[in-house]
Amino acid sequence: MNEEMRKYFSPPDLKAAKKRGKEEISVLEFDTIPPEMKNIGVGKKYLIRTFGCQMNVHDSETMAGILEQMGYEATEKDEEAAVILINTCAIRENAEDKVYGEVGRLKALKTEKPEVVLGMCGCMSQEESVVNRILTKHQHVDLIFGTHNIHRLPHLLFEALMGKEMVVEVWSKEGDIVENLPKVREDGLKAWVNIMYGCDKFCTYCIVPYTRGKERSRRPEDVLAEVRELARKGYQEITLLGQNVNAYGKDFTDREYLFADLMDDVRQIGIPRVRFTTSHPRDFDDHLIDVLAHKGNLVEHIHLPAQSGNSDILKIMARKYTREQYNDLVHRIKRKIPDAVLTTDIIVGYPGETEEQFQDTLSLMEEVEYDTAYTFIYSPREGTPAARMKDDVPMEVKKERLQRLNRLQESISRRKNEELRGQEVEVLVEGESKKNPDVLSGRTRTNKLVNFRGPKHLIGQFVQVRIDEPKTWTLSGTLVGETQIGQVGG
Ligand code: SAH
Ligand code: SF4
Ligand code: F3S
Repeated sequence: MNEEMRKYFSPPDLKAAKKRGKEEISVLEFDTIPPEMKNIGVGKKYLIRTFGCQMNVHDSETMAGILEQMGYEATEKDEEAAVILINTCAIRENAEDKVYGEVGRLKALKTEKPEVVLGMCGCMSQEESVVNRILTKHQHVDLIFGTHNIHRLPHLLFEALMGKEMVVEVWSKEGDIVENLPKVREDGLKAWVNIMYGCDKFCTYCIVPYTRGKERSRRPEDVLAEVRELARKGYQEITLLGQNVNAYGKDFTDREYLFADLMDDVRQIGIPRVRFTTSHPRDFDDHLIDVLAHKGNLVEHIHLPAQSGNSDILKIMARKYTREQYNDLVHRIKRKIPDAVLTTDIIVGYPGETEEQFQDTLSLMEEVEYDTAYTFIYSPREGTPAARMKDDVPMEVKKERLQRLNRLQESISRRKNEELRGQEVEVLVEGESKKNPDVLSGRTRTNKLVNFRGPKHLIGQFVQVRIDEPKTWTLSGTLVGETQIGQVGG
Protein backbone atom coordinates (compact mmCIF):
# COMPACT_ATOMS: atom_id res chain seq x y z
CA MET A 1 0.00 0.00 0.00
CA ASN A 2 1.45 3.38 -0.90
CA GLU A 3 1.71 6.42 1.37
CA GLU A 4 -1.14 8.23 -0.32
CA MET A 5 -3.48 5.38 0.55
CA ARG A 6 -2.08 4.68 3.99
CA LYS A 7 -3.43 7.95 5.30
CA TYR A 8 -6.94 6.60 4.76
CA PHE A 9 -6.45 3.47 6.81
CA SER A 10 -5.72 2.32 10.26
CA PRO A 11 -6.25 -1.34 10.98
CA PRO A 12 -8.48 -2.12 13.97
CA ASP A 13 -6.45 -0.99 16.97
CA LEU A 14 -8.14 -1.04 20.35
CA LYS A 15 -5.73 1.37 21.99
CA ALA A 16 -5.93 3.98 19.28
CA ALA A 17 -9.70 3.61 18.90
CA LYS A 18 -10.32 3.87 22.65
CA LYS A 19 -8.36 7.09 22.75
CA ARG A 20 -10.77 8.71 20.36
CA GLY A 21 -11.68 11.94 21.95
CA LYS A 22 -14.78 13.98 22.38
CA GLU A 23 -13.81 16.40 19.64
CA GLU A 24 -16.89 17.90 18.14
CA ILE A 25 -18.73 16.32 15.31
CA SER A 26 -20.13 18.88 12.92
CA VAL A 27 -23.47 18.54 11.26
CA LEU A 28 -23.25 19.18 7.52
CA GLU A 29 -25.91 19.45 4.87
CA PHE A 30 -25.62 17.22 1.81
CA ASP A 31 -24.60 19.33 -1.21
CA THR A 32 -26.58 19.14 -4.34
CA ILE A 33 -24.96 16.97 -6.99
CA PRO A 34 -22.41 19.04 -8.94
CA PRO A 35 -23.64 19.88 -12.49
CA GLU A 36 -20.97 17.81 -14.25
CA MET A 37 -22.15 14.70 -12.37
CA LYS A 38 -25.84 15.36 -12.31
CA ASN A 39 -26.84 13.62 -15.50
CA ILE A 40 -24.14 11.02 -15.95
CA GLY A 41 -26.59 8.27 -15.04
CA VAL A 42 -29.37 9.24 -17.43
CA GLY A 43 -30.46 6.20 -19.44
CA LYS A 44 -28.36 3.89 -17.24
CA LYS A 45 -29.17 1.53 -14.41
CA TYR A 46 -27.71 0.67 -11.01
CA LEU A 47 -27.84 -2.32 -8.74
CA ILE A 48 -26.92 -2.38 -5.05
CA ARG A 49 -26.43 -5.74 -3.36
CA THR A 50 -26.67 -5.41 0.42
CA PHE A 51 -25.22 -7.70 3.09
CA GLY A 52 -25.40 -7.25 6.86
CA CYS A 53 -27.64 -5.39 9.27
CA GLN A 54 -30.39 -2.77 8.99
CA MET A 55 -27.73 -0.07 9.13
CA ASN A 56 -26.41 -1.32 5.83
CA VAL A 57 -29.88 -1.75 4.38
CA HIS A 58 -30.58 1.88 5.17
CA ASP A 59 -27.18 3.05 3.85
CA SER A 60 -28.10 1.31 0.60
CA GLU A 61 -31.30 3.36 0.50
CA THR A 62 -29.16 6.49 0.79
CA MET A 63 -26.84 5.37 -2.00
CA ALA A 64 -29.88 4.60 -4.15
CA GLY A 65 -31.13 8.12 -3.42
CA ILE A 66 -27.82 9.65 -4.52
CA LEU A 67 -27.61 7.52 -7.67
CA GLU A 68 -31.16 8.42 -8.67
CA GLN A 69 -30.32 12.10 -8.28
CA MET A 70 -27.55 11.42 -10.77
CA GLY A 71 -30.08 10.07 -13.24
CA TYR A 72 -29.58 6.32 -12.71
CA GLU A 73 -32.55 3.96 -12.46
CA ALA A 74 -32.78 0.83 -10.34
CA THR A 75 -32.51 -2.69 -11.72
CA GLU A 76 -32.41 -6.15 -10.17
CA LYS A 77 -30.48 -7.68 -13.06
CA ASP A 78 -26.67 -7.78 -13.19
CA GLU A 79 -26.66 -7.68 -16.97
CA GLU A 80 -28.66 -4.43 -17.12
CA ALA A 81 -26.56 -2.52 -14.60
CA ALA A 82 -23.98 0.14 -15.48
CA VAL A 83 -23.05 0.48 -11.80
CA ILE A 84 -22.98 -2.40 -9.31
CA LEU A 85 -22.29 -1.65 -5.65
CA ILE A 86 -21.71 -4.37 -3.07
CA ASN A 87 -22.53 -3.10 0.42
CA THR A 88 -20.57 -5.40 2.70
CA CYS A 89 -20.71 -6.73 6.26
CA ALA A 90 -17.71 -7.71 8.41
CA ILE A 91 -19.44 -9.05 11.51
CA ARG A 92 -18.44 -12.72 11.07
CA GLU A 93 -16.16 -14.66 8.79
CA ASN A 94 -19.04 -16.24 6.89
CA ALA A 95 -20.45 -12.77 6.15
CA GLU A 96 -17.13 -11.83 4.54
CA ASP A 97 -16.95 -15.13 2.64
CA LYS A 98 -20.30 -14.39 1.03
CA VAL A 99 -18.99 -11.04 -0.18
CA TYR A 100 -15.80 -12.54 -1.62
CA GLY A 101 -18.00 -15.09 -3.39
CA GLU A 102 -20.04 -12.28 -4.92
CA VAL A 103 -16.97 -10.26 -5.94
CA GLY A 104 -15.51 -13.37 -7.58
CA ARG A 105 -18.75 -14.16 -9.36
CA LEU A 106 -18.92 -10.68 -10.90
CA LYS A 107 -15.48 -11.06 -12.49
CA ALA A 108 -16.91 -12.80 -15.56
CA LEU A 109 -19.37 -9.93 -16.07
CA LYS A 110 -16.59 -7.34 -15.75
CA THR A 111 -14.48 -9.20 -18.30
CA GLU A 112 -17.35 -9.22 -20.75
CA LYS A 113 -18.42 -5.63 -20.04
CA PRO A 114 -15.41 -3.67 -18.76
CA GLU A 115 -17.39 -0.40 -18.84
CA VAL A 116 -19.53 -1.52 -15.88
CA VAL A 117 -18.41 0.15 -12.65
CA LEU A 118 -18.05 -2.40 -9.84
CA GLY A 119 -17.85 -0.81 -6.40
CA MET A 120 -17.43 -2.18 -2.91
CA CYS A 121 -18.52 -0.27 0.21
CA GLY A 122 -19.74 -0.88 3.74
CA CYS A 123 -18.03 -2.36 6.77
CA MET A 124 -15.48 -4.64 5.06
CA SER A 125 -14.03 -1.66 3.20
CA GLN A 126 -13.04 -0.24 6.60
CA GLU A 127 -10.64 -3.16 7.16
CA GLU A 128 -7.11 -2.78 5.87
CA SER A 129 -6.63 -6.50 5.22
CA VAL A 130 -9.75 -6.57 3.06
CA VAL A 131 -8.67 -3.56 1.00
CA ASN A 132 -5.25 -5.16 0.51
CA ARG A 133 -6.84 -8.39 -0.63
CA ILE A 134 -9.06 -6.58 -3.13
CA LEU A 135 -6.07 -4.57 -4.42
CA THR A 136 -4.01 -7.70 -5.01
CA LYS A 137 -6.53 -10.41 -5.87
CA HIS A 138 -9.61 -8.68 -7.24
CA GLN A 139 -8.36 -5.98 -9.54
CA HIS A 140 -11.61 -6.06 -11.49
CA VAL A 141 -13.11 -3.93 -8.68
CA ASP A 142 -13.17 -0.24 -9.78
CA LEU A 143 -14.10 1.55 -6.59
CA ILE A 144 -13.75 1.04 -2.84
CA PHE A 145 -15.27 3.40 -0.29
CA GLY A 146 -16.20 3.02 3.37
CA THR A 147 -19.01 3.78 5.79
CA HIS A 148 -17.99 7.37 6.58
CA ASN A 149 -17.95 8.88 3.12
CA ILE A 150 -21.14 7.66 1.46
CA HIS A 151 -22.04 11.30 0.72
CA ARG A 152 -18.93 11.44 -1.51
CA LEU A 153 -20.43 8.84 -3.87
CA PRO A 154 -21.05 11.27 -6.80
CA HIS A 155 -17.40 12.37 -6.79
CA LEU A 156 -16.04 8.86 -6.35
CA LEU A 157 -18.21 7.42 -9.08
CA PHE A 158 -17.22 10.28 -11.37
CA GLU A 159 -13.53 9.54 -10.74
CA ALA A 160 -14.07 5.84 -11.35
CA LEU A 161 -15.82 6.59 -14.65
CA MET A 162 -13.12 9.01 -15.81
CA GLY A 163 -9.98 7.15 -14.72
CA LYS A 164 -8.47 3.74 -15.32
CA GLU A 165 -7.05 3.19 -11.84
CA MET A 166 -9.00 1.65 -8.98
CA VAL A 167 -10.47 4.49 -6.89
CA VAL A 168 -9.99 3.90 -3.15
CA GLU A 169 -11.29 6.32 -0.55
CA VAL A 170 -11.78 4.99 2.95
CA TRP A 171 -11.69 7.30 5.96
CA SER A 172 -10.34 5.59 9.03
CA LYS A 173 -11.69 8.35 11.22
CA GLU A 174 -15.44 8.82 11.25
CA GLY A 175 -16.73 11.80 9.37
CA ASP A 176 -19.26 14.37 10.42
CA ILE A 177 -22.99 13.84 10.47
CA VAL A 178 -24.45 14.59 7.08
CA GLU A 179 -28.11 15.65 6.99
CA ASN A 180 -30.50 15.86 4.07
CA LEU A 181 -29.08 12.88 2.23
CA PRO A 182 -31.48 11.76 -0.48
CA LYS A 183 -33.07 8.34 0.10
CA VAL A 184 -34.99 5.88 -1.95
CA ARG A 185 -36.81 3.76 0.60
CA GLU A 186 -37.40 0.13 -0.38
CA ASP A 187 -40.81 0.06 1.19
CA GLY A 188 -43.73 2.49 1.23
CA LEU A 189 -45.09 1.26 4.56
CA LYS A 190 -42.09 0.80 6.81
CA ALA A 191 -39.07 3.05 7.07
CA TRP A 192 -35.69 3.01 8.80
CA VAL A 193 -34.58 6.16 10.56
CA ASN A 194 -31.00 6.58 11.79
CA ILE A 195 -30.84 8.22 15.17
CA MET A 196 -27.14 7.71 15.77
CA TYR A 197 -24.04 6.34 14.15
CA GLY A 198 -21.10 4.32 15.44
CA CYS A 199 -20.52 2.41 18.66
CA ASP A 200 -18.28 3.05 21.67
CA LYS A 201 -19.05 -0.14 23.57
CA PHE A 202 -16.05 -2.15 22.34
CA CYS A 203 -17.40 -5.59 23.17
CA THR A 204 -14.21 -7.63 22.85
CA TYR A 205 -15.43 -9.81 19.97
CA CYS A 206 -16.93 -7.07 17.83
CA ILE A 207 -15.62 -5.25 14.77
CA VAL A 208 -18.38 -2.61 14.62
CA PRO A 209 -16.68 0.11 16.77
CA TYR A 210 -13.85 0.04 14.22
CA THR A 211 -15.92 -0.13 11.05
CA ARG A 212 -18.51 2.45 12.13
CA GLY A 213 -16.45 4.83 14.27
CA LYS A 214 -17.39 6.56 17.47
CA GLU A 215 -20.90 7.15 18.72
CA ARG A 216 -22.50 10.30 17.42
CA SER A 217 -26.16 11.21 17.70
CA ARG A 218 -28.26 13.06 15.17
CA ARG A 219 -29.88 16.18 16.58
CA PRO A 220 -33.40 15.48 17.88
CA GLU A 221 -34.89 18.19 15.67
CA ASP A 222 -33.50 16.44 12.57
CA VAL A 223 -34.76 13.02 13.66
CA LEU A 224 -38.21 14.37 14.59
CA ALA A 225 -38.49 16.30 11.32
CA GLU A 226 -37.71 13.12 9.39
CA VAL A 227 -40.28 11.13 11.38
CA ARG A 228 -42.95 13.81 10.83
CA GLU A 229 -42.20 13.81 7.12
CA LEU A 230 -42.58 10.01 7.00
CA ALA A 231 -45.89 10.27 8.84
CA ARG A 232 -47.05 12.89 6.35
CA LYS A 233 -46.10 10.60 3.47
CA GLY A 234 -48.25 7.85 4.92
CA TYR A 235 -45.66 5.49 6.39
CA GLN A 236 -47.24 3.18 8.94
CA GLU A 237 -44.16 2.05 10.80
CA ILE A 238 -40.68 3.32 11.53
CA THR A 239 -37.67 1.70 13.15
CA LEU A 240 -35.21 3.97 14.89
CA LEU A 241 -31.72 2.70 14.17
CA GLY A 242 -28.43 2.67 16.03
CA GLN A 243 -25.92 0.04 17.17
CA ASN A 244 -26.64 1.03 20.72
CA VAL A 245 -29.73 3.24 20.74
CA ASN A 246 -29.70 3.57 24.52
CA ALA A 247 -26.56 5.66 24.23
CA TYR A 248 -28.47 8.20 22.14
CA GLY A 249 -27.79 11.76 23.24
CA LYS A 250 -24.94 10.94 25.61
CA ASP A 251 -22.58 12.77 23.26
CA PHE A 252 -24.56 16.04 23.24
CA THR A 253 -22.62 18.83 24.86
CA ASP A 254 -25.28 21.50 24.40
CA ARG A 255 -28.31 19.79 25.94
CA GLU A 256 -29.60 17.01 28.17
CA TYR A 257 -31.67 14.84 25.92
CA LEU A 258 -31.48 11.05 25.96
CA PHE A 259 -33.12 8.13 24.18
CA ALA A 260 -36.12 8.12 26.53
CA ASP A 261 -36.70 11.81 25.72
CA LEU A 262 -36.56 11.06 22.01
CA MET A 263 -39.04 8.19 22.36
CA ASP A 264 -41.32 10.43 24.39
CA ASP A 265 -41.31 12.98 21.55
CA VAL A 266 -41.71 10.38 18.78
CA ARG A 267 -44.66 8.95 20.73
CA GLN A 268 -46.57 12.15 20.01
CA ILE A 269 -46.12 12.01 16.26
CA GLY A 270 -48.93 10.42 14.28
CA ILE A 271 -47.13 7.36 12.99
CA PRO A 272 -48.91 4.15 14.02
CA ARG A 273 -45.94 1.98 14.95
CA VAL A 274 -42.51 2.84 16.26
CA ARG A 275 -39.76 0.26 16.79
CA PHE A 276 -36.12 0.64 17.70
CA THR A 277 -33.00 -1.45 17.39
CA THR A 278 -30.61 -2.30 18.96
CA SER A 279 -30.75 -1.64 22.65
CA HIS A 280 -27.79 -2.43 24.85
CA PRO A 281 -28.86 -3.76 28.26
CA ARG A 282 -26.26 -1.69 30.07
CA ASP A 283 -27.78 1.72 29.28
CA PHE A 284 -31.47 0.71 29.43
CA ASP A 285 -32.84 2.99 32.14
CA ASP A 286 -36.12 3.18 34.04
CA HIS A 287 -37.12 6.41 32.35
CA LEU A 288 -37.09 4.54 29.03
CA ILE A 289 -39.18 1.70 30.50
CA ASP A 290 -41.71 4.26 31.76
CA VAL A 291 -41.95 5.93 28.37
CA LEU A 292 -42.35 2.58 26.59
CA ALA A 293 -45.05 1.59 29.07
CA HIS A 294 -47.28 4.31 27.58
CA LYS A 295 -47.52 2.02 24.54
CA GLY A 296 -49.69 3.77 21.91
CA ASN A 297 -47.47 3.79 18.88
CA LEU A 298 -44.49 2.47 20.86
CA VAL A 299 -44.75 -1.28 20.32
CA GLU A 300 -44.21 -3.83 23.09
CA HIS A 301 -41.24 -5.54 21.45
CA ILE A 302 -37.72 -5.09 22.78
CA HIS A 303 -34.67 -6.65 21.19
CA LEU A 304 -32.27 -7.02 24.08
CA PRO A 305 -29.10 -8.89 23.12
CA ALA A 306 -27.78 -10.90 26.06
CA GLN A 307 -24.84 -12.59 24.24
CA SER A 308 -24.32 -15.01 27.15
CA GLY A 309 -25.98 -16.07 30.40
CA ASN A 310 -22.72 -16.42 32.31
CA SER A 311 -21.27 -13.47 34.17
CA ASP A 312 -17.63 -14.51 33.67
CA ILE A 313 -18.11 -14.77 29.93
CA LEU A 314 -20.01 -11.46 29.91
CA LYS A 315 -17.06 -9.96 31.71
CA ILE A 316 -14.49 -11.07 29.14
CA MET A 317 -16.90 -9.96 26.42
CA ALA A 318 -16.77 -6.52 28.12
CA ARG A 319 -20.56 -6.32 28.04
CA LYS A 320 -20.43 -4.44 31.35
CA TYR A 321 -23.41 -6.18 32.96
CA THR A 322 -23.76 -9.43 34.88
CA ARG A 323 -26.39 -12.11 34.42
CA GLU A 324 -28.09 -10.78 37.56
CA GLN A 325 -28.19 -7.21 36.24
CA TYR A 326 -29.57 -8.43 32.93
CA ASN A 327 -32.24 -10.47 34.69
CA ASP A 328 -33.11 -7.54 36.90
CA LEU A 329 -33.63 -5.38 33.81
CA VAL A 330 -35.87 -8.05 32.28
CA HIS A 331 -37.96 -8.11 35.46
CA ARG A 332 -38.26 -4.33 35.54
CA ILE A 333 -39.42 -4.35 31.92
CA LYS A 334 -41.94 -7.14 32.51
CA ARG A 335 -43.31 -5.45 35.60
CA LYS A 336 -44.15 -2.25 33.71
CA ILE A 337 -44.93 -3.85 30.35
CA PRO A 338 -46.36 -7.29 31.16
CA ASP A 339 -46.99 -8.27 27.53
CA ALA A 340 -43.53 -7.18 26.32
CA VAL A 341 -42.03 -9.57 23.79
CA LEU A 342 -38.30 -9.94 24.24
CA THR A 343 -35.90 -11.18 21.59
CA THR A 344 -32.15 -11.54 21.77
CA ASP A 345 -28.75 -12.28 20.22
CA ILE A 346 -26.53 -15.01 21.66
CA ILE A 347 -22.95 -16.01 20.89
CA VAL A 348 -21.83 -19.57 21.68
CA GLY A 349 -18.32 -20.96 21.81
CA TYR A 350 -16.62 -17.82 23.10
CA PRO A 351 -12.88 -18.42 23.66
CA GLY A 352 -12.59 -20.70 26.70
CA GLU A 353 -16.36 -21.12 27.22
CA THR A 354 -16.91 -24.21 29.40
CA GLU A 355 -19.90 -26.56 29.26
CA GLU A 356 -21.04 -25.12 32.58
CA GLN A 357 -20.86 -21.57 31.32
CA PHE A 358 -22.80 -22.57 28.23
CA GLN A 359 -25.48 -24.12 30.43
CA ASP A 360 -25.92 -20.71 32.06
CA THR A 361 -26.84 -19.39 28.63
CA LEU A 362 -29.39 -22.20 28.23
CA SER A 363 -30.89 -21.43 31.62
CA LEU A 364 -31.08 -17.69 30.88
CA MET A 365 -32.97 -18.52 27.71
CA GLU A 366 -35.43 -20.61 29.76
CA GLU A 367 -35.84 -17.93 32.40
CA VAL A 368 -36.40 -14.96 30.12
CA GLU A 369 -38.48 -16.92 27.60
CA TYR A 370 -37.45 -15.01 24.50
CA ASP A 371 -39.88 -15.16 21.62
CA THR A 372 -36.98 -15.52 19.18
CA ALA A 373 -33.22 -15.46 19.34
CA TYR A 374 -30.50 -14.87 16.76
CA THR A 375 -27.75 -17.30 17.64
CA PHE A 376 -24.17 -17.31 16.40
CA ILE A 377 -20.97 -19.27 16.76
CA TYR A 378 -18.20 -16.92 17.84
CA SER A 379 -16.10 -15.80 14.89
CA PRO A 380 -12.69 -14.23 15.54
CA ARG A 381 -12.31 -10.78 13.96
CA GLU A 382 -8.81 -9.57 13.22
CA GLY A 383 -7.71 -6.70 15.46
CA THR A 384 -10.31 -7.26 18.19
CA PRO A 385 -9.14 -8.29 21.70
CA ALA A 386 -11.01 -11.62 21.59
CA ALA A 387 -9.09 -12.67 18.49
CA ARG A 388 -5.97 -12.81 20.66
CA MET A 389 -7.62 -14.84 23.45
CA LYS A 390 -6.72 -18.50 23.81
CA ASP A 391 -9.56 -20.57 22.42
CA ASP A 392 -9.55 -24.23 23.40
CA VAL A 393 -13.15 -24.98 22.48
CA PRO A 394 -13.16 -27.29 19.45
CA MET A 395 -15.38 -26.29 16.52
CA GLU A 396 -17.33 -29.53 16.88
CA VAL A 397 -18.27 -28.54 20.42
CA LYS A 398 -19.27 -25.03 19.34
CA LYS A 399 -21.51 -26.44 16.63
CA GLU A 400 -23.10 -28.88 19.01
CA ARG A 401 -23.78 -26.06 21.51
CA LEU A 402 -25.39 -23.97 18.80
CA GLN A 403 -27.69 -26.87 17.95
CA ARG A 404 -28.69 -27.41 21.56
CA LEU A 405 -29.35 -23.70 21.98
CA ASN A 406 -31.42 -23.56 18.81
CA ARG A 407 -33.45 -26.59 19.84
CA LEU A 408 -34.26 -25.00 23.17
CA GLN A 409 -35.24 -21.69 21.56
CA GLU A 410 -37.41 -23.53 19.07
CA SER A 411 -39.42 -25.12 21.85
CA ILE A 412 -39.79 -21.79 23.66
CA SER A 413 -40.84 -19.97 20.47
CA ARG A 414 -43.39 -22.69 19.81
CA ARG A 415 -44.74 -22.41 23.35
CA LYS A 416 -44.95 -18.60 23.19
CA ASN A 417 -46.78 -18.69 19.87
CA GLU A 418 -49.15 -21.35 21.21
CA GLU A 419 -50.26 -18.82 23.86
CA LEU A 420 -51.74 -16.75 21.05
CA ARG A 421 -54.13 -19.50 19.88
CA GLY A 422 -57.66 -18.07 19.71
CA GLN A 423 -56.50 -14.52 20.39
CA GLU A 424 -57.09 -11.50 18.15
CA VAL A 425 -54.01 -9.57 17.14
CA GLU A 426 -53.49 -6.33 15.22
CA VAL A 427 -51.69 -6.93 11.93
CA LEU A 428 -50.17 -4.42 9.54
CA VAL A 429 -50.78 -6.07 6.17
CA GLU A 430 -47.58 -5.99 4.13
CA GLY A 431 -48.45 -7.95 1.01
CA GLU A 432 -49.12 -11.35 -0.48
CA SER A 433 -47.53 -14.29 1.24
CA LYS A 434 -44.32 -15.42 -0.48
CA LYS A 435 -45.55 -18.99 -0.74
CA ASN A 436 -49.15 -18.42 -1.78
CA PRO A 437 -50.48 -15.29 -3.54
CA ASP A 438 -54.01 -16.02 -2.25
CA VAL A 439 -52.79 -15.49 1.26
CA LEU A 440 -51.90 -12.10 2.77
CA SER A 441 -49.16 -11.63 5.27
CA GLY A 442 -48.26 -8.98 7.78
CA ARG A 443 -46.84 -8.42 11.22
CA THR A 444 -48.13 -7.98 14.74
CA ARG A 445 -46.95 -5.15 16.98
CA THR A 446 -44.48 -7.67 18.38
CA ASN A 447 -43.11 -8.30 14.87
CA LYS A 448 -44.52 -11.80 14.44
CA LEU A 449 -45.40 -12.86 10.91
CA VAL A 450 -49.11 -13.67 10.40
CA ASN A 451 -50.65 -15.29 7.32
CA PHE A 452 -54.39 -15.11 6.61
CA ARG A 453 -56.84 -15.02 3.70
CA GLY A 454 -58.27 -11.65 2.72
CA PRO A 455 -58.83 -9.21 -0.15
CA LYS A 456 -55.78 -7.47 -1.65
CA HIS A 457 -57.11 -3.98 -0.91
CA LEU A 458 -56.16 -4.58 2.71
CA ILE A 459 -52.47 -4.33 1.85
CA GLY A 460 -51.06 -1.33 3.72
CA GLN A 461 -53.83 -1.37 6.32
CA PHE A 462 -54.23 -2.54 9.88
CA VAL A 463 -56.56 -5.50 10.45
CA GLN A 464 -57.59 -7.76 13.30
CA VAL A 465 -56.75 -11.43 12.83
CA ARG A 466 -57.72 -14.32 15.07
CA ILE A 467 -54.87 -16.78 15.46
CA ASP A 468 -56.05 -20.33 14.66
CA GLU A 469 -52.80 -22.07 13.92
CA PRO A 470 -49.69 -20.97 15.75
CA LYS A 471 -46.47 -22.47 14.38
CA THR A 472 -42.89 -22.16 15.59
CA TRP A 473 -41.89 -19.18 13.45
CA THR A 474 -45.18 -17.92 12.00
CA LEU A 475 -48.86 -17.65 12.85
CA SER A 476 -51.89 -18.42 10.70
CA GLY A 477 -55.28 -16.96 11.35
CA THR A 478 -58.65 -15.67 10.16
CA LEU A 479 -59.47 -12.09 9.28
CA VAL A 480 -61.89 -10.63 11.81
CA GLY A 481 -62.06 -6.99 10.76
CA GLU A 482 -60.28 -3.82 9.84
CA THR A 483 -58.72 -1.74 12.59
CA GLN A 484 -59.17 1.96 12.91
CA ILE A 485 -55.87 3.30 14.10
CA GLY A 486 -56.62 6.60 15.79
CA GLN A 487 -54.32 9.54 15.22
CA VAL A 488 -51.82 9.57 18.02
CA GLY A 489 -50.94 12.90 19.58
CA GLY A 490 -50.17 15.82 17.28
N1 SAH B 1 -25.09 -3.45 18.33
C1 SAH B 1 -25.75 -4.67 18.46
C2 SAH B 1 -25.15 -5.81 17.71
C3 SAH B 1 -24.73 -5.67 16.33
S1 SAH B 1 -23.99 -7.10 15.69
C4 SAH B 1 -25.72 -5.04 19.92
O1 SAH B 1 -24.79 -4.77 20.63
O2 SAH B 1 -26.63 -5.72 20.32
C5 SAH B 1 -25.29 -8.29 15.80
C6 SAH B 1 -24.93 -9.50 16.59
O3 SAH B 1 -23.87 -10.20 15.98
C7 SAH B 1 -24.40 -9.24 17.99
O4 SAH B 1 -25.42 -8.99 18.91
C8 SAH B 1 -23.67 -10.51 18.30
O5 SAH B 1 -24.53 -11.48 18.86
C9 SAH B 1 -23.21 -10.99 16.94
N2 SAH B 1 -21.77 -10.84 16.76
C10 SAH B 1 -21.05 -9.71 16.77
N3 SAH B 1 -19.73 -9.98 16.61
C11 SAH B 1 -19.62 -11.32 16.51
C12 SAH B 1 -18.53 -12.22 16.34
N4 SAH B 1 -17.28 -11.79 16.26
N5 SAH B 1 -18.81 -13.55 16.26
C13 SAH B 1 -20.08 -14.00 16.36
N6 SAH B 1 -21.14 -13.21 16.52
C14 SAH B 1 -20.93 -11.88 16.60
FE1 SF4 C 1 -20.62 -4.55 18.76
FE2 SF4 C 1 -21.00 -4.38 21.35
FE3 SF4 C 1 -21.18 -2.19 19.84
FE4 SF4 C 1 -23.05 -4.07 19.68
S1 SF4 C 1 -22.59 -2.81 21.46
S2 SF4 C 1 -22.05 -3.04 17.99
S3 SF4 C 1 -21.90 -5.94 19.97
S4 SF4 C 1 -19.36 -3.38 20.22
FE1 F3S D 1 -22.27 -5.95 9.52
FE2 F3S D 1 -21.44 -3.48 9.62
FE3 F3S D 1 -23.89 -4.07 10.33
S1 F3S D 1 -20.29 -5.25 10.22
S2 F3S D 1 -23.72 -6.14 11.11
S3 F3S D 1 -23.06 -4.30 8.33
S4 F3S D 1 -22.62 -2.48 11.18
